[in-house]
Amino acid sequence: MNNKIKKILKKKNKSKIVCLTAYSKNIAEIVDDHADIVLVGDSLGSVLYNYDTTRKVSLNMMIEHTKSARMGVRKSLLVIDLPYNTYRNKSEALKNSKRSIKETKCDAVKVEGGTKVKEIVKHLVKNRIPVLGHIGITPQTTKGKFRSKGKNEVEKRKLLKDAQDLEQSGAFGIVLECIYSDISKKITNSINIPTIGIGASVNCDGQVLVTDDLIGLNETKFRFVKKFGNVKKYIKSAIIKYKNSVKQKKFPSKKNSY
Ligand code: KIV
Repeated sequence: MNNKIKKILKKKNKSKIVCLTAYSKNIAEIVDDHADIVLVGDSLGSVLYNYDTTRKVSLNMMIEHTKSARMGVRKSLLVIDLPYNTYRNKSEALKNSKRSIKETKCDAVKVEGGTKVKEIVKHLVKNRIPVLGHIGITPQTTKGKFRSKGKNEVEKRKLLKDAQDLEQSGAFGIVLECIYSDISKKITNSINIPTIGIGASVNCDGQVLVTDDLIGLNETKFRFVKKFGNVKKYIKSAIIKYKNSVKQKKFPSKKNSY
């Protein structure tokens, strides 16, 4: 097993796992120093391309962004999201995972779904592809308005079964997206692999956020997002300084000219 994955597994019940997204080298470089897992998420479809659904993200797009992120990631585990319709059966999943890992040199793949993808996950793991699962709200297949999962007993039982099936299939961890805190606690305590929450309370073994959201670069209104900074302000200020320098003919100076 990959040493980075071993380290992440050891953190369960000891210290929180920090996961962040990165879609490019420059952000990945900053994130890498502070994260255990860097995820090239298909959220890039909405964050960078303004798509109304992640279903429009292609494998080629994911591969190009992961190649860029790879240049910035040295110590963290680099995970690529397999996009919609790229893991519909075992052979398609294996072919696309192998291609992703070969072309990007990433460490693992993430797939959405629980019980429904258990045979696919099993097949990937058998073929030495490390897999991160993802249950709760699964944006690739959730139709209509996103609604938190695990409100009633039927949903709670399904989520627990999803998580147990993923663990049994050999996934090394599971993202829990928008799950009520009581069931995220139950899942976290019922399985031996780490849970990584997004909108799933402090009861998970780790936490993931979309970096562009938390630094205030991407505007989003999801309740589970907290803006920890406002980089837009700094970018704006640098751009205004540049504009004024150009208008006042202060830039480029002799120092910047040949
Ligand atoms: O696509 C993504 O960035 C994700 C995370 C939000 C978990 O799946």
